Amino acid sequence: MADSERNFDENFERYKHVKRSPLYYYCGEYTTIKQLSRDGNYCENSLSGLKILDLGCGSGQSIAHFFEKGADQVIGLDISQEMVESAKKYLESLKIPNQKFMIEKADCSSLESVSQILSLDIYSNYFDIITAFYFHCFAKDENQLAEIFNLCNRYLKPGGKIGFVTLNPETYTNFLTFKEVAEDHFFAKYQNITVINEIPQVELLFINPESKEELFSVFNNIFSVEQFQRAMQRSRFELIEARTLDINPDFDKSTISAEELSLLTGNLCVNYFFQGRKVSDLQ
Ligand SMILES: C[S@@+](CC[C@H](N)C(=O)[O-])C[C@H]1O[C@@H](n2cnc3c(N)ncnc32)[C@H](O)[C@@H]1O
Repeated sequence: MADSERNFDENFERYKHVKRSPLYYYCGEYTTIKQLSRDGNYCENSLSGLKILDLGCGSGQSIAHFFEKGADQVIGLDISQEMVESAKKYLESLKIPNQKFMIEKADCSSLESVSQILSLDIYSNYFDIITAFYFHCFAKDENQLAEIFNLCNRYLKPGGKIGFVTLNPETYTNFLTFKEVAEDHFFAKYQNITVINEIPQVELLFINPESKEELFSVFNNIFSVEQFQRAMQRSRFELIEARTLDINPDFDKSTISAEELSLLTGNLCVNYFFQGRKVSDLQ
């Protein structure tokens, strides 16, 4: 995952032009918050009293969303220093009290790296929920996925939950359809797909939505549901659900085109939501 540090640091100025897709707020984060809330509802208090860790937090938008829904405390970690700085500034600009959040640089695929920031003496079995948006696609293989889930196991309370959004596993089996659906999509294009060490890897080219300028590419690995499930089981998690996203009914569908809407819904939804529960502590 080391490349992702360079990628998002070096391309930080360009990434700022990437329009934040409604997918994030109204679908991915919406589904995650609703499904991980205590009562399965998406409302002001969905996350009240909960302590949340967000892996690969980027510029902090999902963290702001968690506070909108009542989260008690959120810690965000990202491998890119630029992202960390922008998330801090963003949350400060929203006047979220300092004691409620902490944003730090760490490699979230490594327990050693994360434990330098979140001491296991204080933070093991601490969080109710661990989330991640578009982060697992940077894991290099199933072993690295299992390392990420191991780390989640250490930091989650017994029975705690993980919820994350990543690429739809169907992207591999149905690449040409996905590529067509995503063509000229408002923030990125699907370029090539190649299989490296048996893992399909898609090149996603970010574009400036106004000028259509091509900004930079990231390479995302596409794991199958079975690979996620196996990696979770190794880390003492049970997979609760793996599926396409829900849409917040408040989302004004007239604000986007039919093509864009098809990216958010049904079988062609470009993203997938996974939920798992910690079954027991690792030995
Ligand atoms: C596509 S961005 C998504 C950011 C954010 N989660 C969001 O939804 O807006 C992926 C983020 O994952 C971070 N990332 C990639 N590999 C990482 C790693 N090993 N540890 C921590 N962060 C990582 C990148 O720096 C980047 O900020």
